[in-house]
Amino acid sequence: TSSRLTSLTRGPYSVVNDEDIQFFNKVLEGRVITDKDELESHNTDWLKTVKGNSQVLLRPKTTEEVSAIVKYCHDRYLAVVPQGGNTGLVGGSVPVFDEVIISTQLMNNIISINPVSGALICQAGCILETLDSHVQEHGLTMPLDLGAKGSCHIGGNVATNAGGIRLLRYGSLHGTVLGLEAVLPDGEIMDCLTPLRKDNTGYDLKQLFIGSEGTLGIITKVSILCPQKPNAVCVALLGCESFQKVLDIFVACKSHLGEIMSAFEFMDSQTMQLVKENLSMTSPLVDYPFYTLVECSGSNGTHDEEKLTKMLQAVMDDGAALDGTVATDSTKIYNIWALRESCASALMKDGYNYKYDVSLPLEHFYTLAEVMRERVKNHAIRTVAYGHVGDGNLHLNFTTAEYCPATMALIEPFIYDWVAKHRGSISAEHGLGFKKRQFIYHSKTPSAVALMATIKKAVDPRGIMNPYKVLPEVTNGENES
Ligand code: FAD
Ligand code: MLT
Ligand code: ZN
Repeated sequence: TSSRLTSLTRGPYSVVNDEDIQFFNKVLEGRVITDKDELESHNTDWLKTVKGNSQVLLRPKTTEEVSAIVKYCHDRYLAVVPQGGNTGLVGGSVPVFDEVIISTQLMNNIISINPVSGALICQAGCILETLDSHVQEHGLTMPLDLGAKGSCHIGGNVATNAGGIRLLRYGSLHGTVLGLEAVLPDGEIMDCLTPLRKDNTGYDLKQLFIGSEGTLGIITKVSILCPQKPNAVCVALLGCESFQKVLDIFVACKSHLGEIMSAFEFMDSQTMQLVKENLSMTSPLVDYPFYTLVECSGSNGTHDEEKLTKMLQAVMDDGAALDGTVATDSTKIYNIWALRESCASALMKDGYNYKYDVSLPLEHFYTLAEVMRERVKNHAIRTVAYGHVGDGNLHLNFTTAEYCPATMALIEPFIYDWVAKHRGSISAEHGLGFKKRQFIYHSKTPSAVALMATIKKAVDPRGIMNPYKVLPEVTNGENES
């Protein structure tokens, strides 16, 4: 589906042979998958836009098993791709050629929860939603939440530095991850699994792995700080007439709600249309050009609802909002959130989804959607914009029935040039993976990219760990090795 893929040549890695399979079977006892049908879903990304051709999927249960198989792959010069829930949106979690897939699917033990400090320690393959349910029993909640919670793994979240809908309140994983354990590309186990809040003893190595997208090693355990579970949650869905009004409502929310605001999301009318048409969902509001979804989480439900209702009254009085509804019961809250969290699945129903995830200064935020809609016109079924506006993160999506090179030519590289010109980031939260790595220079200087390459080389001199991802392909005759 990508011209970048057809022009790419396979690295000089070994090819998996029978002896390798025998070794893997010896270490993993029946957890070595070579069945083509079973491999299919692990070779294909969530968006169904990239597809690899791996012949083997390994499912270790322990760090020691990961270490043994990675050491073997290193010594045999076999390339590997770490895989969690395979919900990544930039083609980073699937092989490009025939890399060995190492899945964290069976690494799903919770090791400890400290209800006093809030530190949770678990294996990397724990599913985010399962962790949330577990920590709730201890009065805690996970510091991150995203639409893929039912299948993404905490290791995958850390590897992608996933943002999501709670980032506004609890900050990024660079702050909430306390420690981690990872298996380095030569099989060495790096144990930085501290539950401590403060630890200034030398370089903070865990930070390197947060957002490294599987290129520096396989994260095997995570220590993460869970905040107190809020006693009460309430949500408001508001309709308004312009994007400027969305920003006015954001300012009003900050002033009325302060520290209890836990999410501030937006959808444009085309997005609402999308979820209605493709998933038969219903909105509690009639049609408006823009919608904002505001969530409050706090210790006193009555006070929080009062604050939210006051805010709603104020923004309706001054014309920022045209209509709004407040939800306090869990079914209504769930239904409102479903409208926003189903956007990604709804897009898939159109056929092919061109997905962009950018950061922009708020004054340019929605202009990009308008510029692109005008540019792409009827070369897309639809152009929809939604996202974590409270974090300056726009999700801009186009769809066609199937992949269309002419549509792609209208979108790229124009969209990246526009974002760079307006001092944004071409990947706010999804990462670079395979699909966006060539555009890294739109958001990072040559010297920053060179330092990244130096770090990659130091940690993974043989280049076996998730090759063809994150760092750009070296094209001017330079040899990567
Ligand atoms: P995978 O997709 O399996 O892998 C992602 C990357 O991490 C790959 O490069 C892989 O090699 C690497 N990796 C995985 N596990 C490990 C490991 N243990 N060690 C080292 N490397 C590893 N992202 C956001 O940031 N915010 C959102 O709001 C958001 N919402 C989403 C909603 C939907 C419906 C979907 C489908 C995706 C969404 N995403 C979002 C994308 C996001 O990147 C992933 O959902 C999630 O963080 C990836 O976790 P995963 O376990 O599926 O990882
Ligand atoms: C979201 O916020 O819904 C996710 O990042 C997925 C997407 O961008 O579609
Ligand atoms: Zn998102």
